[in-house]
This record gives sequence, structure tokens and C-alpha cells, in this order.
Amino acid sequence: MTLRHALSLSLRSGLIILGANAANAANAANAANAANAANAANAANGAIADEVVKIGHVAPLTGGTAHLGKDSENGARLAIEEINQKGLTIGGQKITLELDAQDDAADPRQATEAAQKLVDGKDVAVVGHVNSGTSIPASKIYSDAGIVEISPAATNPTYTLQGFKTTYRVVGTDAQQGPALADYASRLLKAKSVAIVDDATSYGQGLADQFETKIKASGVTVLSHDEANDKAVDFRAILTKIKGEHPDVIMYGGEDATAGPFAKQAKQLAIAAKVLVGDGACTTKLSDLAGDATDNVICSIAGMPLEKMAGGADFQKRYEARFHQPIQVYAPFAYDAVYIIVDAMKRANSTDPAKLLAMMPSTDYHGVLGETQFDSKGDLKHGVISRYQYVGGKQKLLDIVKM
Ligand code: ALA
Repeated sequence: MTLRHALSLSLRSGLIILGANAANAANAANAANAANAANAANAANGAIADEVVKIGHVAPLTGGTAHLGKDSENGARLAIEEINQKGLTIGGQKITLELDAQDDAADPRQATEAAQKLVDGKDVAVVGHVNSGTSIPASKIYSDAGIVEISPAATNPTYTLQGFKTTYRVVGTDAQQGPALADYASRLLKAKSVAIVDDATSYGQGLADQFETKIKASGVTVLSHDEANDKAVDFRAILTKIKGEHPDVIMYGGEDATAGPFAKQAKQLAIAAKVLVGDGACTTKLSDLAGDATDNVICSIAGMPLEKMAGGADFQKRYEARFHQPIQVYAPFAYDAVYIIVDAMKRANSTDPAKLLAMMPSTDYHGVLGETQFDSKGDLKHGVISRYQYVGGKQKLLDIVKM
């Protein structure tokens, strides 16, 4: 590598590991030609210069859903560690990947600040964000910067309906998940009436609205649709009111941090109706939060079940050996998202964000999730929804549906 090449790379990637300190390299460069100087400096230190390429990851690492953000971050981290260990060369240049992990606290404003930080830091692509309420506002910033964003979790349809070329996700959408839950209520639980509550976020409200549209179309009566918020922990007033409405089923749009207390308090109030929730609450953690009330919960995720994913069982072993904790839900999705970015770099033979972006539409990646291909919006071509119940506090797969 020439010194000039090294410097231009350092500007582009934000960081470079040179085999010699900069002063020596610069002095040598003055004394000889740049190529010889860089080679000599590297040789003197017994190292070959690696370009460090940063891939961003943004998710909540603080707040009630920090465990979901960490789950996703761990998945991305595992992929990066493995790729670095195997060795990555792009365009003849040895690459070391670095995970630029940021916290958005599931907050839209913090999400846009984190997105700007990644853009300013010259990250080449981003895995994130986890919440629809953060992924949607951040997507404009990545679009303006021409940086690929692959969400491992955001399910609100709006995310990919904004016309951005940079916006991708590796999960299905709530236009599939809402109807899948509604179908379960009407066809399998034979509900005649439902009550709906959501957490007023892009995700919770969006999913609840999709559910409501579909369940009404199935001829089921919607008795009420109440709004709480994503910090709520006391649902007794809403649930007492709902108990008086005698719904056959209750649908809650929100994540496990609130769905846990919601389901628990429903059981404490002796409400027998099943509680239906989506992917944000279809987690391992829900059992810790809801206790034996999970026996009354039906939930869905916007992808294949881990145990049915092409590389699921093996991924689970590697994840648990590395992080000593169970997978919540998003780790395998974030893991494949990193590999999809690297696959695009390889096909582009470049780490240039624009060249990587140009390769994204032709993605045909076989990984832990199975085969990933994108439609023209950046959604999965073959998205599925998996439905679960909890038995003895453990998730048990009911079925997998294509909606
Ligand atoms: N699917 C959840 C969301 O979109 C995580 O926010």
C-alpha cells in the first residue's frame, strides 16, 4: 500500500492501523517515495497495514428494551468477530471490520443523533435500528448520506415505503404480522369480539391498527382500542374497563417491557381472554416479566423460528458460547445483516458505501436465516410470520404462515 493510499483510506474509513507510527512514516515518505516508505515502515514493525472499516449498529442499549438492543448488537458483533477471524480482503486490501455500536434508547430523537454520528464517523453501512419508531426517522439521514441501513427488527410498513434506496430490513412487516395475529384470533380462537391496546409507538400502534383492520374485515367486533405508552407499567385501570367489555381476545401492540406487566395484570384480574402480542414481545424475557401469565399469551415474530432457520441451531450454540445468555429474538437477523453488507462489499469489490449500495438490490444471500432476497422497496421477498404459545414459560411454535 502506498502512503497516499493509506491516508486516503484513513480519511474514508475514519481510522487506519499503520504498521509504523505516523511521524516515522511521514519522515520516510519525505526521504523516499511513498510506496517504499510505507512498505519499509510496515516491514520494520512486522505488520501489514489493515484498513479498518466501520459498520454501525444502533439499538436501545438503555431503557426498558435494552435487552432487545443488546440481543441485536450481540448478533452483529458475533458476525464481525467471525469475519475478522477468518480474514477479509476486498479489492486486494486486507480489511478489519469494526462494530460502531451506538445507543438510541428507543427514542426517535436520540436515534437521529446516533445516525448522524455514524454518518459523520464514515461508517460504510448500518445494522439497525431495532424499533420502527427509531428506524423510520433515522432512515432519512442514511438516505441523505447514501449509506445502507438494514434493520434486523423494524416491522412498520412505512419504513420501506418512503422511497429511499438505502432502506432495507431482514424481517417481515406488520402488514403481514397484524393479519397473522388477526387470523389467529378469528379463525383459530374463534373470537367474536376483541379489545385492543397499544403503546402509541410507530410499532405498537401500527401493528394494532393492522390487526384492527383485518379483524374487522373478518366480521369480529372491536369493542375498544385504547392507547397507553411505551413506559407504562400499570394497566389495571384499562384492564378493569376491558374486563367489563368481556372480549374473547385482547390484542396488545407493544414490546415485552410493557406487554409483560400487561399480561400479568390481566391474569391477576382474572381475565381469561388470550392476550395476543407481536414480535417486540415474543421474547425469552416475556416469561421473566409476565410469570405464569405467559400461558395465556399467543405471540408472533416476523421471521422463521430460530429452530427452523437454515443455520439456527448452530448459530444458537455459537451465540450462547460467546455471550452466555439466551437469544431474545433479533440476534440472528442482525448477524445475517452484517454478512449481507459484507457480501455486497465483496460483490462490489469495494468498501465504498455507494458501490456497496449499488449491489444491495441483487442480494441473494444464504445465511443463518436461509435465503435472503429483497424486493424493490427493500423488504424481504419471502417474509414469513411464526406464531407461538408459551408452555411452562417457554415459547412453543404453533405454526409458520405466509400472509
Ligand atoms: N418490530 C418492532 C418494531 O418495529 C421491534 O419496533
